[in-house]
Amino acid sequence: MSPQAELQENVGLTKLNTLCVSATARYYMDVASLNDLRSALAWARDNGHKILVLGSGSNLVFAGNFDGLVIRMQIAARSWEQVDDKGATLVLGAGENWHDAVLYAARAGYRGIENLALIPGTAGAAPVQNIGAYGVELCDTLISVTALDRESNELLCLENAECGFAYRDSLFKRWPGRYIITGIRLRLSRTKPLQLGYRDLEDYLGDTVSQQLDVLTVAEAVMAIRRRKLPDPEMIPNAGSFFKNPVVPAEHFRELHAAHPDVVGYPQNGTVKLAAAWLIDQSGWKGYRNARVGVHNRQALVLINHSGGTGRDVLELASEIRQSVQERFGVNLEMEPGIVGG
Ligand code: EPU
Repeated sequence: MSPQAELQENVGLTKLNTLCVSATARYYMDVASLNDLRSALAWARDNGHKILVLGSGSNLVFAGNFDGLVIRMQIAARSWEQVDDKGATLVLGAGENWHDAVLYAARAGYRGIENLALIPGTAGAAPVQNIGAYGVELCDTLISVTALDRESNELLCLENAECGFAYRDSLFKRWPGRYIITGIRLRLSRTKPLQLGYRDLEDYLGDTVSQQLDVLTVAEAVMAIRRRKLPDPEMIPNAGSFFKNPVVPAEHFRELHAAHPDVVGYPQNGTVKLAAAWLIDQSGWKGYRNARVGVHNRQALVLINHSGGTGRDVLELASEIRQSVQERFGVNLEMEPGIVGG
């Protein structure tokens, strides 16, 4: 075991979750290699403890303390493979910071993940919710995921088609605890057209002709748009979008549209994806705050821990929001972050 993989007891997790809610791990290990990971899992199994794999804690809510072993995934690795005239494969260890990897690729002139700039979190967490923004999802470039299968104890390479990707969803999310992601491979391109169709991006770039844009400029545009609308978790504790955009049958959308002509919806395969932010905003929550937690005043999908809020405070607010959207629009909002502990 490397020195990093030392077992610690009663470790505070407040700085290890971007909502900054206070929680403690009964046991904790930093894991920097596959060997460390195997040792950590063996220790947890031999001592009868459940485990929680933590990246940068940007998509979870601690409802209380975690009474098991928290494994902080820190496997670092960044390399290029299969480099040719058209593109290259970027190989990332699970512990790599996602945004740093986006900039690393964009600075080298490779396209495919620039619209995903500034998304908090690690490379290993990215496939779990199939991160997406500005018309691009991780699954558009992901070739494969390397993961330790806790059932067989084998290191597997799961191809894209085996990962069950959907909007903010994957096999890893649907089967929590089974696979521990140790690395990902992305196929990036030097020539693929830039994805500039998302309205915010189009508005920001104005009349710039797409042929004149390079990949780094697009990444920087995305960063500027995000900084304008979304709170920086380093300054204002939050976990990004707190709810998924709900998908409703076309008939339900027609009814909603008749009652609320400016409802925001995007048709897709006979259904309509609604903007959860619009539903929450229209229900009067944007900018709401109580003594501890609240709703961001520029993006109603983001819940904020203003001042010492607990995970339960955040979840209580989420539940009130869900209830009022359900009452007003008859739409069920599904939470995006996972709930752990407590
Ligand atoms: N809107 C409101 N009120 C608000 C915010 C937005 O009415 O307070 C309306 C906007 O006018 C717009 C619509 O809602 O018509 C959609 O808003 P936006 O383009 O900001 O995107 P979103 O659907 O709210 C999604 C992702 C974000 C991602 C953006 C940009 C989900 C759950 N969220 O938000 O992802 O950055 O698109 O692509 O899909 C995240 O997952 O943490 C995240 C931030």
